Amino acid sequence: MLWKNTSTQFGHISILIHWLVALSVYGMFALGLWMVSLNYYDAWYHKAPEIHKSIGFVLFLLMIFRVLWRFISPPPKALDSYSNLVKISSTLVKISLYLLLFGIFLSGYLISTADGQPISIFGYFEIPAIWSDEGIQADSAGVVHLYLAWTLIILSILHAIAALKHHFIDRDVTLKRILGIRSWLGN
Ligand code: HEM
Repeated sequence: MLWKNTSTQFGHISILIHWLVALSVYGMFALGLWMVSLNYYDAWYHKAPEIHKSIGFVLFLLMIFRVLWRFISPPPKALDSYSNLVKISSTLVKISLYLLLFGIFLSGYLISTADGQPISIFGYFEIPAIWSDEGIQADSAGVVHLYLAWTLIILSILHAIAALKHHFIDRDVTLKRILGIRSWLGN
C-alpha cells in the first residue's frame, strides 16, 4: 500500500480524500437544492437540513486533515510536459477549490447559527453558535453560501474537463495519478 504521496504519485490517503470530498460536494449540492424546495409539511423538512449540516461538519474536519496532510505528505510534482500556463492555472484552481470549500463551511455555519441555536451533529454532539444576528446574518450568509456552492460546482467541472483533456488529448498520467492506477498495479 502506498499511503503517502511520492514525488511522482498520489498515495492512497490523498486519493481517498480527493474522491470522498468530490462525491460529497456533488451530493451535498443536490441535497441543499432539494431541501430548500421542501415545504413545512414535508417529512424531510427538518431531517434533510440536519443531515446536510452534519455531513458538512464531517467534511470540514476532513478538509482540515487534508490541509495538514499536504504538509506531512506533499503532493507529487507537476509533470515536465506541463507548460507554465498549465502549472500556474492549475495551482490557482486548486487554491480556489480549497478556499471555496472553507468559505462554504463558514457561511453554512453562519446560516445555521444565526438564530443563536447550536448545530447538532447527527444528534451526538453540538457545535455552539458564536455570532448570532437573526435577520441580516441568515439572509446574507445564505446568499454567499449559494453563490460559493455554484462557483465550486462550476470550477470543479472545469477542473474535471481539464483532467479529461490531459487524459484523452495530451495522453499524460494526470488523471491516472489521482485514480491511483499506477499504484494499484504496484508500479
Ligand atoms: C467537487 C469536486 C472536486 C474538488 C473539490 C477537487 C479538488 C481537487 C484538489 C484540491 C486537488 C489538488 C490535490 C492536492 O494537490 O492535494 C485535485 C486534484 C486533482 N483532481 Fe480534483 N476535485 C474535484 C473533482 C474532480 C473530478 C470530477 C476529477 C476528474 C474527473 C478530478 C481530477 C483531478 C486530478 C486529475 C487531480 C490531480 C491534478 C495534479 O496532478 O496536479 N477532480 N482536485
